[in-house]
Amino acid sequence: MSNNKIAYITGGSKGIGLGVAKQMLDSGMKVAISGRNAQSLKEAEKFLNSPENVLSIVSDVTNTKDEVIAIKKVIDKWGSIDVVIANAGVGYFAPVDELAEDQWQQMLQTNLTGPFYTLKASVEALKRSKGYYITIASLAGTNFFANGAGYNATKYGLVGFTQAAMLDLRKYDIKVSTIMPGSVSTEFAGNKPSDKDAWKIQPEDIGELVLDLLKMNPRTLPSKIEVRPTRPDKK
Ligand SMILES: NC(=O)c1ccc[n+]([C@@H]2O[C@H](COP(=O)([O-])OP(=O)(O)OC[C@H]3O[C@@H](n4cnc5c(N)ncnc54)[C@H](OP(=O)(O)O)[C@@H]3O)[C@@H](O)[C@H]2O)c1
Repeated sequence: MSNNKIAYITGGSKGIGLGVAKQMLDSGMKVAISGRNAQSLKEAEKFLNSPENVLSIVSDVTNTKDEVIAIKKVIDKWGSIDVVIANAGVGYFAPVDELAEDQWQQMLQTNLTGPFYTLKASVEALKRSKGYYITIASLAGTNFFANGAGYNATKYGLVGFTQAAMLDLRKYDIKVSTIMPGSVSTEFAGNKPSDKDAWKIQPEDIGELVLDLLKMNPRTLPSKIEVRPTRPDKK
């Protein structure tokens, strides 16, 4: 399914979203990337170095109107959308009694409501293309941990949301999957990627996984994919 296909990736200016965008472009796809920060999007465009095949869009997934406009921009430019990756996410980690209300709200809005808004904005286009909707959840959507109450809540929710959406949308021949990564070397939660991250999954590895999903026979759907570093740090 990958050649000449058109994708929209939320949070495509950095980290996993940018890694997925790169792999998609290398496989011959056209890719729209979004994020809140215009400067980060400009830097991502430079890194991707394929002006004709990249569209960057300032859009905040917590704002449903932004997402509707973003999808319209992609369709106005390229005519259709085949793949939507709901990837944008944020993480704040603190004991539940110290977790701030605004951090809770930001995680909920970005990690859970955002993928719903992105799907709502794109679902009619996906029906037309018999496309693919993928969420980037996390192993935090199946393994709970101390300091993770807010983040765990959003990612458990996202896994449930995605699985139920899969059941609703398969009658339209829309595929729906959730990818649940362990540690990936990105700027997530203030991390600075460096050699110390060599043991982690790299963003392009998630890109390869997405391309594998797109290549899968239409009759077969890996709907929930856990992916982890082969050897976690110090193990
Ligand atoms: N890194 C990991 O170890 C890991 C593991 C499992 C799952 N994940 C998940 O993977 C996804 C991507 O994270 P990452 O590691 O690539 O993090 P990252 O390097 O911090 O990138 C996050 C991206 O999301 C965008 N973003 C954040 N809030 C947004 C909003 N409200 N609207 C639109 N875009 C927004 C950011 O751009 P702006 O700031 O400019 O908006 C950026 O492009 C997240 O859902 C995260 O939970 C990460």
